[in-house]
Amino acid sequence: MTQELTAVHTESPSSKPTGWWRDAVIYQVYVRSFADSDGDGVGDLRGIRSRLPHLARLGVDAVWLTPFYASPQADGGYDVADYRAVDPLFGTLEDAADLVRAAHDLGLRVIVDVVPNHTSDRHRWFQEALCDPSARARYHFRPGRGPGGDLPPNDWESVFGGPAWTRVDVPVGSGGSRPEAGGEWYLHLFAPEQPDLNWEHAEVREEFDSVLRFWLDLGVDGFRVDVAHGMVKPPGLPDIGHSGQARLIGEQVLPFFDQDGVHEIHRSWRRLLDSYSPALRPCGTPGQRIGVAEAWAPTSERLALYVRPDELHQAFNFRFLNCPWDPEAMRRVIDESLAATASVGAPTTWVLSNHDVVRHTTRYGSLARARAAALLMLALPGSAYLYQGEELGLPEVTDLPDEVRRDPAFRRGGPATGAQGASADGQEGLRDGCRVPMPWSGAEPPYGFGPGGSWLPQPADWAGLTVEAQTGDPHSTLELYRAALELRRALPGLGAGPDPAGNGEGNGMRWLDSPAGVLAFGRPGFVCTFNTRGTPVELPSPGRPVLSSSPLGGDGRTVLIPADSCTWWAI
Ligand code: NOJ
Repeated sequence: MTQELTAVHTESPSSKPTGWWRDAVIYQVYVRSFADSDGDGVGDLRGIRSRLPHLARLGVDAVWLTPFYASPQADGGYDVADYRAVDPLFGTLEDAADLVRAAHDLGLRVIVDVVPNHTSDRHRWFQEALCDPSARARYHFRPGRGPGGDLPPNDWESVFGGPAWTRVDVPVGSGGSRPEAGGEWYLHLFAPEQPDLNWEHAEVREEFDSVLRFWLDLGVDGFRVDVAHGMVKPPGLPDIGHSGQARLIGEQVLPFFDQDGVHEIHRSWRRLLDSYSPALRPCGTPGQRIGVAEAWAPTSERLALYVRPDELHQAFNFRFLNCPWDPEAMRRVIDESLAATASVGAPTTWVLSNHDVVRHTTRYGSLARARAAALLMLALPGSAYLYQGEELGLPEVTDLPDEVRRDPAFRRGGPATGAQGASADGQEGLRDGCRVPMPWSGAEPPYGFGPGGSWLPQPADWAGLTVEAQTGDPHSTLELYRAALELRRALPGLGAGPDPAGNGEGNGMRWLDSPAGVLAFGRPGFVCTFNTRGTPVELPSPGRPVLSSSPLGGDGRTVLIPADSCTWWAI
């Protein structure tokens, strides 16, 4: 059946809000898996620098680098031992400065990770705390419960499985006696190697202000704030009364997350970021320094609190990432996300994949759907995050041998631990499958990743997925992303965020009537059709097709929208 799409308004969006980040496309580089310069099989800063032209050509606005700081790598660098040092695995501080400069020269901004919820257990503060009980106030140490204090202080579970508490030895006395077991317990919402900091302690706050300044002075354009919803714990650390497994990204309401107290920290960081005016930039690129929250909050409205005008600039939209291949659910999540962020005058963000979840090619079950979802995401108002390799259509690697897996949750008894491929979303210890190093060129591993091997084995059948193999092939996923990002800059209305007045209309987006299973929306000068059905759908042509995730059929007047596809139309 042919069904008409209703007319689209063609007025231009109201005043375009300022701020480069409002509609930026930001590319996540998982540092150890992007490009290796020295042949040790682990990606590094020089490797990234050598591959910046790929990112410039792709057409992204900024790069987010996952942690490259000094770390024992118990959780892929999210266990930081020294926030001001580069781990030798990844290079030197000079390499970091060179990378930032080279990126700026290519017009790319650089966002780095900051990990404030916890340090590494090798951090100087924690080492001091282990030796000296009077130096423990920067963390959460408590006596145990039960006879002999043998039970953890409360019933919290770690996100990586098992109790969120680990017991330490009684420190060696000045007499040099052997350490005695049976001391206090410390809190770690993640791995035991990641003790949680106590953000009530003034020194913790001062230290992170200083760390942020350190990287801002080096020239970075902003921070991705790890566990931005977790730094403040409920007073008294009460039991939560059930044994629910906490998750990184998931529908959950846990009292140790999303405490109101975190907002004061974000406000103070916003003041700090704002104090770095363009005039003070050492590297010449004009623009604001931003903060993006990796936060989980129970509702879109609670999440919007993190992006109020005096808090962080953006928050990842994990509800969009979590959405099943269901047009109604997708439309609902899009509407709720836009409404919630518009209510505080912030842009919405969109994301499909990252280093913590199963790649969306695999999650959605096919490359066709992954390509369609990418075009949908890039047509929506606001800012979009891409995860390295999604521009190549990389699937999740589901058959990694146990012995190469590094995800700390893999050995901690999470629900799907050890059962390869059994995880629905990869969070239960199987996050290595989305972290397999990038294939750049050549016919066999390591596919140009570096002069040595690669820290996780790459599949033998990735030769056709390399950047080299896909470049110039008009049907490739890489060329689809390149074309989409180019059009995003060229087509009027695309990418612009909601207006700062927060009335939700400034993005110019309107849903159009469409057949069941098809989502269609218009923005000024533009229509996007998204067919979630497994069969083609015939429609009157809404305009001139400018990009489609699958080849269109039809006779010109009507058009046959392919199964599982997304098409952009100029009108
Ligand atoms: C979120 C990060 O994305 C994840 O990789 C890490 O394991 C946790 N935070 C803990 O830092």
